[in-house]
Amino acid sequence: MDSILRVDGGKPLNGEIFVRGAKNFVPKAMVASLLGSTPSKLRNVPQIRDVDVVSELLSLHGVHINFDQGAGVLDLNPKNVEIAHVADIDALAGSSRIPILFCGPLLHRLGEAFIPDLGGCNIGGRPIDFHLDTLRSFGANVIKEDNGIRITADKGLRGTQVHLPFPSVGATEQTLLTAVMADGLTELTGAAIEPEIMDLINVLQKMGAIMSVDTDRTIRIEGVKELTGFTHTALPDRIEAASWASAALATHGDIYVRGAHQPDMTTFLNTFRKVGGAFAIDDEGIRFWHPGGELKPIVLETNVHPGFMTDWQQPLVVALTQASGLSILHETVYENRLGFTRALREMGANIQVYRECLGGLRCRFGQRNFNHSAVISGPTPLHGANITVPDLRGGFSYLIAALAAEGESIVHGIDVISRGYEHFLNKLARLDAQVERG
Ligand code: EPZ
Repeated sequence: MDSILRVDGGKPLNGEIFVRGAKNFVPKAMVASLLGSTPSKLRNVPQIRDVDVVSELLSLHGVHINFDQGAGVLDLNPKNVEIAHVADIDALAGSSRIPILFCGPLLHRLGEAFIPDLGGCNIGGRPIDFHLDTLRSFGANVIKEDNGIRITADKGLRGTQVHLPFPSVGATEQTLLTAVMADGLTELTGAAIEPEIMDLINVLQKMGAIMSVDTDRTIRIEGVKELTGFTHTALPDRIEAASWASAALATHGDIYVRGAHQPDMTTFLNTFRKVGGAFAIDDEGIRFWHPGGELKPIVLETNVHPGFMTDWQQPLVVALTQASGLSILHETVYENRLGFTRALREMGANIQVYRECLGGLRCRFGQRNFNHSAVISGPTPLHGANITVPDLRGGFSYLIAALAAEGESIVHGIDVISRGYEHFLNKLARLDAQVERG
C-alpha cells in the first residue's frame, strides 16, 4: 500500500526533538563487529530501516543480535559466523548500499563472500568500481554473478597501496574494514575523512587495529592478527540535525535538536547563519530558529568533508526558496541529485537547473549532460500539492516544503524517509505539525 501523509501546511514547527546515532555510521560499526573474536556493544543506535537491513544480513551470517530499541543499545555476537545461503541474502538485494562493506570482514572470517546487488538512493550512478579495485589490490578474486558479486581470497589478504580518485566514503570504509586484518601495511591516499569515518576508526582502534590519519588524507593501517569486540557510543546524526534545522527555517519555527553536536556541523552552522537562521549551542544540543526578517540568498557548493555536505543541501534548498533574491547551488558529489526540485516547482518554487558547473569548485560533472547546478529565485510562496518521495533526503525536503506551504499536500511514499529519520512522524507530532497518515 502506498504510504501516504496528509500535511496541512503553513504553520511553524516549534518544540524539541531528539537525534540519535548517525545513519551513515551505525551500520558500518555493525559490520565491523564481524571482525571481532568477542561480542560488541553499540550505543545510541536509532530505529531506522538501514539498521534493520544490516541486522538481518548479519543474522543470516550467524551473528547473534539483540537490539534494545528503547535504550538504543545493540549487542552483537559474531562467534558463530557462517556462510549465508544466497537465496536468503538475495531477499535483501536492492535494499541498501551497506552489503558491499561485508566483503573484507567475511573474507577474513570465511575466505569468501556473496554480496547481493546494492540499493541506495537514486541520486546518481552509485558505481562500486573503487570498492572492487580495492578488494582486488588486497588479493581478492571478484566474480560478477547474475544477482550479485562472489568474492574469494584463497591466498588470504595482504596489505597494499590504494589511491582513491575521489574521496569516496564507502570505498574508504571498504579499505579500512579490509586492511585492519590484512597481512602487512596498507597505505590509503585520497581518503574520505568525514566524522562518520573518524568514528569508524575509533571503533576499529578499540578493537585492536593500528591506524594513523595524516592531514593529506593519507590513512596508514598495520594489519593485526586478531581484533576483539568493541563498546562504543555512536556519534549523532548530523544530517538529521541539519534537516530539522532547515525545517525550522522554512516554517518560521523554533526547534531544539537534542543530541546535535557542533563540531560535526561547523560548515552547516556557518551556512545556516549566512542565510539568516539563528542557533544557540549548549552541552546537550542545538536550538535552531527563524529570527524573523528576510532570509538571504547564498552561493552553495557541496563538497566532501569539511565542505558543505551533499546530504545537507536538499532540505536547505526548501528554505532557500524563501530567501529574498537568487541563490546558486552547485552539487559536486552526485551527478543526479537535483531531480527533487521538480516537485518544489509544482508547489510554486522558482528553481532552474543547469548542466554547467555554477561555482568555483573543480567538478567531475561539467559538460557531461548532468543537471547538477541550480538557481533558486525567491521568495516564492509555496502551495500544497500531490507529491511523491524521490529519495531519502529529497523525501525529507518534501516534508519541509509541505509543512511550509499554504494548504494541504499529499506526500506519497513516505516510508522511504524511515530509512534515515528515526520516528519522524512522532517527531513531527511533537513539533505541532498538522499531519495525518493517509
Ligand atoms: C555515503 O554514500 C553516504 N551513505 C551518502 O549518504 C553520502 O551522501 C555519501 O557517502 C557522501 O558523503 C552511507 O554512508 C550509507 P561515496 P557512498 O562513495 O559511500 C563516486 C544519505 O542520504 N564513487 O562517497 O555511497 C560516487 O558516484 C546518503 O544518507 C565512484 O565513482 O558515497 C559519488 O559521485 C546519500 N565509485 C562519489 O564517489 C565508487 O566505487 C561519492 O560517493 C564509489 C563512489
